[in-house]
Amino acid sequence: MSVHPSTSEAPPAARPAVTLPRLREAAARGEKLAMLTCYDATFARVLDDAGADVLLVGDSLGNVIQGQSSTLPVTLEHMAYHTEAVARGKRLAFLVADLPFGSYESSPQQALASAGALMRAGAQMVKLEGGGYTAETVRFLVERGVPVCAHLGLTPQRVHAIGGYRVQGRDEAAASQLLADATALAEAGASMLVLELVPSALARRITGQLPQLMTIGIGAGAGTTGQVLVLHDMLGLTPGKRPRFVRDFTRVPGSAADAPGLSVAQAVAAYVAAVKDGSFPDEAVHGY
Ligand code: KIV
Repeated sequence: MSVHPSTSEAPPAARPAVTLPRLREAAARGEKLAMLTCYDATFARVLDDAGADVLLVGDSLGNVIQGQSSTLPVTLEHMAYHTEAVARGKRLAFLVADLPFGSYESSPQQALASAGALMRAGAQMVKLEGGGYTAETVRFLVERGVPVCAHLGLTPQRVHAIGGYRVQGRDEAAASQLLADATALAEAGASMLVLELVPSALARRITGQLPQLMTIGIGAGAGTTGQVLVLHDMLGLTPGKRPRFVRDFTRVPGSAADAPGLSVAQAVAAYVAAVKDGSFPDEAVHGY
């Protein structure tokens, strides 16, 4: 059962600034990491005060902020603009920003120039999508002081190559390829790995076999080091049918459909608590 915060306005408990070594220490002692996407200063403050460990300026801003049908139109300038805003609003959480489509694939040098723009905007780590072919770029960035989060499984920048937003790594060949890609990225020095829409058993296997990687699942079951959701999804703001892996944290489980929902701050605190105590995701409900 998830923990729901009281409605009192108690000030958030003091915590030290979240750094990469502190994230690694937390992961090593078995603490689950709570990440959420964030695109502006106001939400950055709310998420930070609610105890989110990591804020991700995702290129999902193309969908939820710009109203695009994919992340492909998002530019490096858009990402830097939103990263600056989030960096101004947050206090202690760790800030990761996405390298958008077309800003890192040409060469490691192109990736470093783009990562530089995001880090000057306030990012503490950059995320890039793609399999083992990106390992050379990951190594190049890491050796030059840029912490990297890799991203495997459903990689939305490849939506047209994949043919839709669907679960990846379901058969043995695809699962082996995913594990090989994750291994190559870990060996190249990636610190984190987002696993999006992969079977829970595969995400658990990758997490177990590559302890040097902090795996962050979204639709990847409960066996990862941490979880991430798109903020607008977990606040119930995204129109249309809610995907299986998303929980609307503004709703108190078991309450009537017309019962008043939680505030944004309460919903985010409930998400952080549910990730930390392992009650979200519930594999039977949210997993594949
Ligand atoms: O862009 C994004 O929001 C992401 C998350 C779905 C992990 O990459």
